[in-house]
Amino acid sequence: MLVLALETSCDETAVAVVRGEGDARPVVCAESISSQIKLHADYGGVVPELAAREHLKALPWMIERTLGEAKVSIGDITAVAATRGPGLKGCLLVGCGFAKAIALAHGIPVLGVNHIEGHVLAPLMDNPGLDFPYLALVVSGGHTEILAVRGVGRYELINRTSDDAAGEAFDKSANLLGLEYPGGPRLAALADKYTSSDFVLPRVMRNDPGISFSGLKTAIALLIAKQGEGAVSDEEVRGRLAFAIQDAIVTALVDKLTAAMKSTGIRHVAITGGVSANRALRARVRAIPRAEVYLPGDQHCMDNAGMIGYVGLERFRRGERSDLRADVQSRWPVETMRLE
Ligand code: KG4
Ligand code: ZN
Repeated sequence: MLVLALETSCDETAVAVVRGEGDARPVVCAESISSQIKLHADYGGVVPELAAREHLKALPWMIERTLGEAKVSIGDITAVAATRGPGLKGCLLVGCGFAKAIALAHGIPVLGVNHIEGHVLAPLMDNPGLDFPYLALVVSGGHTEILAVRGVGRYELINRTSDDAAGEAFDKSANLLGLEYPGGPRLAALADKYTSSDFVLPRVMRNDPGISFSGLKTAIALLIAKQGEGAVSDEEVRGRLAFAIQDAIVTALVDKLTAAMKSTGIRHVAITGGVSANRALRARVRAIPRAEVYLPGDQHCMDNAGMIGYVGLERFRRGERSDLRADVQSRWPVETMRLE
């Protein structure tokens, strides 16, 4: 089975060709990604209408290029998968519209894939040693949740943020430090130059079973404001603030993951989503006693189409198909993705 996969849920256009032989794990034959970060930087965030138009422009040449790199033609493709949600509605419509058109033109099945299920299963693509069950810490710009992953379509929600996502906490803090959008990786790069900081932030979520970044967000805003006008333009002050912020976000995530390991008894942990690229987070999760840690390859931490093809293939194999009339789903909790 050869699946063409399209990912257009936010500001990354991505295309992949994924192959599955027998029962073996799906393998990515070729994949490409085109980021719109520069386009949205001037606005300080993703502009949905602009993002949708970019996907429309990028998909035709990206599909052609990715098929070429996989050394296959469109006639060799046996099924097509596209992200159906969660994400920006207009953006999802572009990818799903393309997928449906290809399916109709070539008489092949189509499947709408859950983007978070892609992140949840992504570590399986790059870690032959990882198997079910494992805990997935999904940390991205729009999501922060911990799931017990017991199989394809068997996801138990353990914890989920009630407000901001970890990536948002990074990006909003970076904005307060005067760093360009998306500031998460920039804040992390500054923070990684330091090993300590005199700035202190409260350990906000320790006494609460849930995840919430709103208290920390307020504490960060107050701490930065307290330094006074212009303080953040001082490289040293900015760096030490960045260290304290990163440390507080990472500590909160590590606390929650440690609690999830205790409550489920699962020691195998996968960190996934854009924030899984964060080095401090990786190091701190690796240091959790008894944790065995798995990470997606660099190209599969952020949004990508490989993970959409992987999920698509696993589900096509089980006989799943989408109706051509199916709408996109901007909200679509991953734990509802049960297989019959
Ligand atoms: O998964 P992703 O590419 O897109 C979403 O589905 O949201 O995640 C993007 C998020 C952004 O908030 C970005 O700032 C954050 O991941 N991010 C990082 C790092 N790299 C990306 N945050 C902290 N440290 C990083 N190294
Ligand atoms: Zn994502």
